Amino acid sequence: MSVPLLDLVAQYHSIQDEVLRAMMAVVERQGFIMGPEVAQLEAEVAKLSRARHGIGCASGTDALLLPLRALDLKPGDEVITTPFTFFATAGAIHNAGGTPVFVDIDPATFNISPRAIREAITPRTRGIVAVHLFGQMAAMEEIAPLAQEHGLALIEDGAQAIGARRKVNGEWRVAGELGTVGTFSFFPSKNLGGFGDGGMMVTQDDRLADRLRKLRLHGGARQYHHEEVGYNSRLDTLQAAVLLAKLPHLAGWSQARAERAQRYTRAFTGHADICPPAIDPANEHIFHQYTIRVPRRNELQAHLKERGIGNAVYYPLALHLQPCFAHLGYERGRLPVTEAAMDSVISLPIYPELIPGQQDAVIDAVLGFYA
Ligand SMILES: Cc1ncc(COP(=O)(O)O)c(C=O)c1O
Repeated sequence: MSVPLLDLVAQYHSIQDEVLRAMMAVVERQGFIMGPEVAQLEAEVAKLSRARHGIGCASGTDALLLPLRALDLKPGDEVITTPFTFFATAGAIHNAGGTPVFVDIDPATFNISPRAIREAITPRTRGIVAVHLFGQMAAMEEIAPLAQEHGLALIEDGAQAIGARRKVNGEWRVAGELGTVGTFSFFPSKNLGGFGDGGMMVTQDDRLADRLRKLRLHGGARQYHHEEVGYNSRLDTLQAAVLLAKLPHLAGWSQARAERAQRYTRAFTGHADICPPAIDPANEHIFHQYTIRVPRRNELQAHLKERGIGNAVYYPLALHLQPCFAHLGYERGRLPVTEAAMDSVISLPIYPELIPGQQDAVIDAVLGFYA
């Protein structure tokens, strides 16, 4: 049995009527730019993230770029982040005029290490971008006070973690709630995915929210008046309509992902070669990815491919080793936990529509390889 890494067609068929109705309402109205669905989705995502403001934008990448632009970085200003993430996290720092400073990760969760952040803070540090990788939140109870103590902006890259929660000092906190800005991606493969690109920023800060709203509209609140140079980075009304139709399903979908993760972990636990993903006990993990660590990873990948079992390596080359950042002077060996992760991780199919027979096929193929 072949099993795709992700099956968006199955998800679409389960909600086809609702989504098409929502889209057709926009089409019938021919109101594609900043229609009422955008403001509705902004309000819903702000509520979900327990933030005062939600500001839609064109992608999860722009959701990072705009708040970084709002820092007015000068050449040489540093922003600390993780090298074990999708490229956009660091690309946005660079494109906003900053220098990404890569620090190592926690070996269990793959999230940025608070101790490594502390050690990397210099007089040039202006901000931290913490990524909630694969669907579980970074250690916000340590990172947020660090940012506050040093007067740094804290951006939570929640592209993979919309609706994820973490017990912070005894209280449940949601991805995007505690940072200066929280960011989300609606890339189609995300837990809440649109029918194209889309993103959202959330913040508690009224003034910053105004600035971000301007930055996404060429730097002006009033048409044809521009206080600064911004971007065309609106969230399409059609995307907002799709996302509004999908949003009521999000909690159930994330729960279904977590159940499938549990089933994998039951099958892999105790196996000498397979290290299932660790869930930090403070976290409610929404399993955007189910990522195991294994020896002979590339051989396993070829074995799965031969059997039609979808899989992916997130991420095969950490960002501190990317050619475009060679000028920053990192070499292999500098961030050993990250480098061990990039050489050993592999992500398996996980989505709400994954049925037990498919999951068994994945499990059998992985176990079969190490038998
Ligand atoms: C951690 C992370 N940050 C940022 C992004 C960028 O989002 P987008 O693809 O919507 O630009 C993604 C996803 O693609 C991501 O996984």
